[in-house]
Amino acid sequence: MRAGLVCLALAAFALSAALSLSSAPLKAEAASGESPLRAHMGVASCAGSTCHGRSVASGTPVRQDELLRWQEESSPTGAHSRAWRVIGEPRGAAIVRRLGLDSAGVTRECAGCHATRGSAHPAEGVDCEACHGNAGGGAGGGWLATHYTVGTSHARNVAQGMTDLTNPRTRATVCLDCHLSGDGQGQFIAHRIMAAGHPRISFELDLFSTLQQHHDEDADYVQRKGHKTNSMQMWAIGQAEAVARGLSLYSQPAKANDGVFPEFTFYDCHSCHRRIYDSDEANVSAVPNPGRPIHTGMPPYNDENMILLLAAARVVAPAEAATFDARSKAFHRAMGVGRGEAVAAAQALRQAAEALSARFATTAFSRDQAFAVIDTIASDAISERFTDYEGSVQSVMALDTLLNGMVNAGMVNSAGAGGLRIQINQAYAAVRDPNGFQPIAFRRALGGAVRSIRSLR
Ligand code: HEC
Ligand code: HEC
Ligand code: HEC
Ligand code: HEC
Repeated sequence: MRAGLVCLALAAFALSAALSLSSAPLKAEAASGESPLRAHMGVASCAGSTCHGRSVASGTPVRQDELLRWQEESSPTGAHSRAWRVIGEPRGAAIVRRLGLDSAGVTRECAGCHATRGSAHPAEGVDCEACHGNAGGGAGGGWLATHYTVGTSHARNVAQGMTDLTNPRTRATVCLDCHLSGDGQGQFIAHRIMAAGHPRISFELDLFSTLQQHHDEDADYVQRKGHKTNSMQMWAIGQAEAVARGLSLYSQPAKANDGVFPEFTFYDCHSCHRRIYDSDEANVSAVPNPGRPIHTGMPPYNDENMILLLAAARVVAPAEAATFDARSKAFHRAMGVGRGEAVAAAQALRQAAEALSARFATTAFSRDQAFAVIDTIASDAISERFTDYEGSVQSVMALDTLLNGMVNAGMVNSAGAGGLRIQINQAYAAVRDPNGFQPIAFRRALGGAVRSIRSLR
């Protein structure tokens, strides 16, 4: 565990010194961004021992050890505090070197996701305000000075500019900026960056929220925020918002191309990264996918979130699901026609995804619906679309999330769910090696996990 922010600052490498000098473009950009603009205050303003800087979770109404959890590098709850530092570590340094970036280049390409926009201290990584919203200044005076005072409320904090992360659509927007890509400077994970050695970014809103959780959903939380997290809803909205976000980025000409090439980041990685067999058997490793009516030999758009969104929609909103399905096929087809056609189809598909997101926001996701979604994911109509690695990973995360969500909501008992861990882990094992991914074997593992979950019904 790390001793504190001073150490963090000291441990930071030479590059960060150069970067704090070149933080001007970030600020200039923030200033032209959303309004009303609030000042970024920095982690130190949250770190007091009577605030969020306690060493034990003894506070009320909140734990008050949030800072420590955010810094805890031995677990994913601490990932955000090290986000900047990893750029100077061997893997990060190798990426920077392969891309030929100087420090201004790192700020331009990486800081939007590995630091906090508008922060004077990029070395602090992705800080509290990156998610909770800038805390100070601005027309309304900010929320920092008042958010802990007697008589405050979540609604008042939000009115003063705190980001309402309890709202799944708002939360999705915040996370996706960095865990998919966003419009901000340095928030786009181009194929060039991945080809330089960046890890693939795979995201599921509810699972990742749980992984970085630094609060307790106790009775007091429910009273202040009005509700417990509904994991099934969080998951479904996460899928819809990811579809919409991806299509919106794809529709921007500057993002969709890189030189004379299409920007490969939008496509299914393994459609290009396959082996070729020249032997008499003429092996073709691609498996037909009825959800993607385009010719073999063309890279399909990465549809991992579309598949899962369709599964949720089939259960919750069958009529809208049919529209979404038709439009997603039309979009894939249009990709084989021309850029204009593809962008128009993307627009129609994005509207359908946004309508589903809005619909899910008012859906309770009952026990029956949750079980039905799990069944739908493994149904023939959906599982035959898991022909590529990304969508398959997404489907395993979905099972994990939906099962945990049902346990948290008291819909299935935790002992029963715990007994299914082996099957869930087998499904995870079937996606452990991206290069050895076998669609048919994967479907078998997925089906096995779903059958065992069904036994809890
Ligand atoms: C769109 C946002 C985004 C951009 C742009 C981006 N990254 Fe990342 N990066 C991430 C996310 C998200 C992860 C974590 C992936 C995961 O584990 O889910 C990550 C992980 C990493 C890791 C691995 C960290 C670890 O703990 O192992 C390194 C190294 C890294 N990024 C370096 C870079 C560099 C260098 C750049 C600029 C050239 C860059 N990133 C640009 C979002 C981004
Ligand atoms: C990656 C995004 C992210 C970062 C970074 C982050 N938080 Fe959070 N935080 C959340 C989410 C999501 C929740 C749960 C939703 C909610 O209740 O606001 C939460 C909840 C909280 C809560 C509980 C609120 C309550 O009403 O019970 C506190 C307090 C908190 N965060 C403080 C901090 C502090 C302090 C930091 C920095 C040291 C920080 N957070 C960094 C996303 C983040
Ligand atoms: C400003 C960019 C940014 C935002 C906003 C952001 N993240 Fe991250 N997140 C990152 C980066 C970069 C990493 C990788 C850090 C590393 O591994 O060193 C990361 C890592 C994580 C990890 C650890 C993943 C792992 O493989 O260990 C989780 C979990 C996570 N983020 C969840 C969330 C959630 C949930 C939200 C929204 C509430 C969110 N993040 C918002 C940039 C961001
Ligand atoms: C349209 C085809 C296409 C798609 C889709 C594609 N790539 Fe690539 N990728 C390439 C090409 C071409 C290269 C360069 C190969 C070379 O330099 O020999 C490459 C190189 C790479 C490399 C470097 C490999 C090496 O050994 O040098 C990585 C890593 C990589 N891509 C990851 C990804 C990821 C992750 C995705 C999905 C998000 C993806 N690619 C999608 C065509 C593609």
